[in-house]
Amino acid sequence: MCSYTIRRTTSNMAQNTFSLASRTKLSNGLSMPTIHLGVYLTSGKETYQAVRWALEAGYRGVDSAEMYRNEKESGKAISDYLASEANTQALKREDIHFTSKLASNGSYDAARKAIKRSVKECGLGYIDLFLLHSPYGGKKARLDSWRAVQDAIDDGEVRIGGVSNYGVKHLQELLESKPRIAPAVNQIEVHPFNTRKDITSFCQGNNIVVEAYAPLVRALRMKHPTIVSLSKKYSCTPGQLLVRWSLQHGYVPLPKSVKKERIVENSEIGDFEIEDGDLAKMDQLDEYLVTDWDPTDCQ
Ligand SMILES: NC(=O)c1ccc[n+]([C@@H]2O[C@H](COP(=O)([O-])OP(=O)(O)OC[C@H]3O[C@@H](n4cnc5c(N)ncnc54)[C@H](OP(=O)(O)O)[C@@H]3O)[C@@H](O)[C@H]2O)c1
Repeated sequence: MCSYTIRRTTSNMAQNTFSLASRTKLSNGLSMPTIHLGVYLTSGKETYQAVRWALEAGYRGVDSAEMYRNEKESGKAISDYLASEANTQALKREDIHFTSKLASNGSYDAARKAIKRSVKECGLGYIDLFLLHSPYGGKKARLDSWRAVQDAIDDGEVRIGGVSNYGVKHLQELLESKPRIAPAVNQIEVHPFNTRKDITSFCQGNNIVVEAYAPLVRALRMKHPTIVSLSKKYSCTPGQLLVRWSLQHGYVPLPKSVKKERIVENSEIGDFEIEDGDLAKMDQLDEYLVTDWDPTDCQ
């Protein structure tokens, strides 16, 4: 546990208690871990080490992608961990949740092939959550790629299907196409400096879980006066405050770090609760800060 003096609160404690063991329910009746390790922009070597540390710390979800070029090392780190002495709880493959994403939308056949390639690459037998990484490619490519995800679910290659970087119009387009399987997740950039209220409200109203990427604002606002002062108030670090903000909004955060102590730090968010007024104060920091790309409005 962290060495800070923790400010404990009692209100809403039951509903707002979070840990690495917490799980989030999905519209398809399944559930997934509420906190995942992100592995974007990490080399294969860094990814392997970070995933091992994360699993040892108690993380049960890893967020990779075809585009990240580290599905192989993510999967190997998971398999090696499960087979190792460090796996003191005798966890099995089904206890770990692995996410990957389709690099680009195109034809049905191209998407189907890419999914099979990702399954092979990670070496885990199947992928827990498979996302269309972005809405780029136009309507036909989006809907054809989604059909491929549905069929991959039917064939056991994928357990759960979702999308990423989808704006409201893309989600509406997909739902209006009356898919056999609805997307369970939309992974978008969300943090206090980019709250994306339109998309998050639409998702929450349509039973689509919001996965929050860049939950630490890519470390760009760790010294912001409001973040610093609230971190002092709650005796936590800025990183912990940001992860906690995500969780208390009902999102699934994907904090990324390649440093062991930060991987642990970012997960130690169970012992404090941000008061409603402070949560609202953090929401007001919104400046539509995009840390990476923003395909949410593309055609
Ligand atoms: N679907 C998409 O299009 C998309 C786009 C972007 C990201 N993602 C996913 O979301 C994950 C998270 O997003 P992200 O990686 O862009 O950004 P992030 O998690 O918000 O921030 C990561 C940055 O913060 C630093 N950091 C980590 N913990 C810290 C702490 N406690 N204190 C200070 N700095 C800390 C990391 O450096 P160190 O590593 O050196 O600790 C890294 O530079 C990604 O890894 C990926 O899985 C998805």
